[in-house]
Amino acid sequence: MATLDAEGMLGILDRFGSDCAAAIRCADSVAPLPMSTPVDQIVACGMGGSAMGGEILRRFSRSPTEVHRSGRLPSQTSDRTLLVAISYSGNTTETLSALEQALETQARFLCVSSGGRLAELARERGLPLVVVPSGYPPRAALPYLGLGPLAVLGRSGLVSMPERWEEVFQGIAEDGRRLGADVPTKDNSAKQIAIALNGRVPVVIGVAGTTDLAALRWKTQINENAKQPAFCSVIPELLHNEILAWDEERSRRHLCAVVLRSQDDTEADASRAAYVSRLLREKRVPVIEVDAPGTSPHERVLRLLYLGDFVSVYLALSRRVDPTPVLGIDAMKRSLGYVGRETPDVP
Ligand code: PA5
Repeated sequence: MATLDAEGMLGILDRFGSDCAAAIRCADSVAPLPMSTPVDQIVACGMGGSAMGGEILRRFSRSPTEVHRSGRLPSQTSDRTLLVAISYSGNTTETLSALEQALETQARFLCVSSGGRLAELARERGLPLVVVPSGYPPRAALPYLGLGPLAVLGRSGLVSMPERWEEVFQGIAEDGRRLGADVPTKDNSAKQIAIALNGRVPVVIGVAGTTDLAALRWKTQINENAKQPAFCSVIPELLHNEILAWDEERSRRHLCAVVLRSQDDTEADASRAAYVSRLLREKRVPVIEVDAPGTSPHERVLRLLYLGDFVSVYLALSRRVDPTPVLGIDAMKRSLGYVGRETPDVP
């Protein structure tokens, strides 16, 4: 595994818990946001791995929150809008373009980046900036991209925060010990899930408002780390369209469903998730059901994300793929003239 994982993605996963704790601390260096005018809408601008940071904000926000993945000006921006621009490299064209247009409006801002043009712009314009450490592949910096701004917004009461972060970090540390590379497959649920997914196309199913962001993260991590197709969909919407697609025998025999459940699901959504699992099993589709572990919503979200990260890396390694390089994304950025991208320099 160490030979295949040449750039050390497993080493970064080992640090997930300490990175989460460091992310909360790094937000202390950002002054509290001025709240003389209340914020009644949050728009998190970002793409790819950075947009996932926005998904964490959306999950715990107390106001309507949109994750804006486009270079256009977010709609209905006013002095009650807080725009959080998140770009790990600081050079992502869509994020910079949305921010630059929004700077002409009355919106308020928070920037999150390890450097690049976004950090420069924040300093030039005096915008609050959460500085994320450099040297990570963007998607692997999720603890900083999500929990950094969450902690800043938490101080202004804009998002919910756990009562005790220590308990959350303890749960994550336990997962690090249970799911690490040295734990054999028979005791390691992440390796078992990766083996079950190998050779199939995963369809990761989440529940709106609870596990939907984890479903999207599992999908995108499988895409980027294992370099293979994966899809995600959301209960209850999928009951109104996608369940018909599973009738098609020829395509469904290549699929494997992963159903992500949480104690935070409503009773109605839990019944819907059970219905989906039952329906797929009747159609002989392999179904893996995963219950988010933890004693608080924050712990459940983070530990489900962490498990998905491990699964995607083990899936990559079982397919003899190096999880870290994303040559196709680098080539796309060069070809489309993105401002630039830091070469990952994994510590
Ligand atoms: O994982 C990746 O490398 C991508 O999904 C990037 O996050 C995406 O291209 C946006 O770049 P950045 O996160 O630097 O804004």
